Amino acid sequence: MKKTTVKAFREMKGGRKLSMLTAYDASMARLLDGAGIDALLVGDSLGMVALGYDSTLPVTMEEMLHHAAAVSRGAERALVIGDMPFGSYQISPEQAVSNGIRFIKEGGCAAVKIEGGEEVCGTVRALVRAGVPVIGHIGLTPQTAGQLGGYKVQGKDLAAARKLLDDARALEAAGVFGLVLEAMPAQLAAVITEAVSMPTVGIGAGPHCDGQVLVIQDLLGLFEKFTPTFVKQYVNLAPEIKAAVQSYISEVESGAFPGPEHSFASKENFRALLSGA
Ligand code: KIV
Repeated sequence: MKKTTVKAFREMKGGRKLSMLTAYDASMARLLDGAGIDALLVGDSLGMVALGYDSTLPVTMEEMLHHAAAVSRGAERALVIGDMPFGSYQISPEQAVSNGIRFIKEGGCAAVKIEGGEEVCGTVRALVRAGVPVIGHIGLTPQTAGQLGGYKVQGKDLAAARKLLDDARALEAAGVFGLVLEAMPAQLAAVITEAVSMPTVGIGAGPHCDGQVLVIQDLLGLFEKFTPTFVKQYVNLAPEIKAAVQSYISEVESGAFPGPEHSFASKENFRALLSGA
């Protein structure tokens, strides 16, 4: 299969639906890449599903780069996108460009994602001008969830829907090559998808987007704290992992593990040879 480039991603607008998942380490990236995923997002959801924070806000650039580099080492074909964490692009376009370049050089990413609408367009322009491809993210933006009244569906009334459509158009003009639409009515996501020339990637935004993204832990049933209603859990691995670990514990305790097939034999009689050594 051919590598998904930013250009190839952009050209998928209106064609075959794009599939995107989050990934945070090389072994998972290798599995998802091997399964044929188009794009891997090293999301700042890292903070909640892998680092044990209560929100995405504490995640640092160093943490993101550490995991982005691991994902890039595991992915051969998928487009790897680094999520710019809270505080890494809000201070100035210069700060955003410097951190965006770090995602490319140190994280091995092909592009970055930033949250926000019209207010981040100057930053998007600066990144794109510096050669850092950007995917936007509007609707429910977890980094500013506090200002949005919590983790709630956005764009439910006409004024809010119009604002999201304006944000999408402004981001398009600023040069994003794709746009994540999170937690909004399916009909609004359809209108936005028809209005812009770059692919939209939905999460809780219905079936009319050009692609879909989910957090991998949610899809696999690995994150038990909460599951958003828009998530489809394709497999529930948490109970299977617990059962496997319980079997391991009881076999260690009973001595059933390791058996001869998991142990190294030797022709030497070390007991005799080493006695008194
Ligand atoms: O951080 C993340 O995983 C995300 C996706 C859910 C879009 O932003």
